[in-house]
Amino acid sequence: MKRKILIGLALVFVVIQFIRIDKTNPEDKPGSRDILAFYPDSDTIGHLLKVACYDCHSNHTNYPWYSNIAPVSWWLQEHIEDGRKHLNFSDWSEYPDRKANHKLEECIEMVQEGEMPLTSYTIAHGEARLNEEDKARLIRWFKRHMSTHARETEDHD
Ligand code: HEC
Repeated sequence: MKRKILIGLALVFVVIQFIRIDKTNPEDKPGSRDILAFYPDSDTIGHLLKVACYDCHSNHTNYPWYSNIAPVSWWLQEHIEDGRKHLNFSDWSEYPDRKANHKLEECIEMVQEGEMPLTSYTIAHGEARLNEEDKARLIRWFKRHMSTHARETEDHD
């Protein structure tokens, strides 16, 4: 009986491998600029942002080897799609001031509270684990640009 269950499970595992995820990255919208191209001082922070956030919040996801293995791959794809829907740094120039300002505020909160990058991600991506200094640098950078958008929002209202 136990043997049959094991064989059954192994078969299911093999069969689900045929349900592949689509790993094509979305095209950048014509004319839209990435957050790192949008702000002039991004070379100070670009690496950190790319390593910690871009796999889920940009059009430039690097898929890890285990993205070939179902059902992990399905779960991963869901995070990526959900992450992009909420915040896509590749579409930054498309965000109106008010939205950009609000997203930056949320970024600060997420990093401060250690909610982002997701723990399930940092387990496999050691380089994305943020130490206190990384967090402080990111937060400072987000804050600096938040004030730019806040000023512009007030000016135009
Ligand atoms: C493994 C994928 C993954 C990584 C890496 C990741 N995020 Fe996320 N992020 C998500 C998902 C999924 C959501 C939406 C669901 C949720 O809020 O948990 C999200 C939501 C957010 C939100 C909320 C946006 C909104 O409008 O509600 C912010 C802000 C955010 N992430 C910032 C970041 C920042 C900053 C980093 C890097 C320091 C980062 N994330 C890294 C997957 C990720």
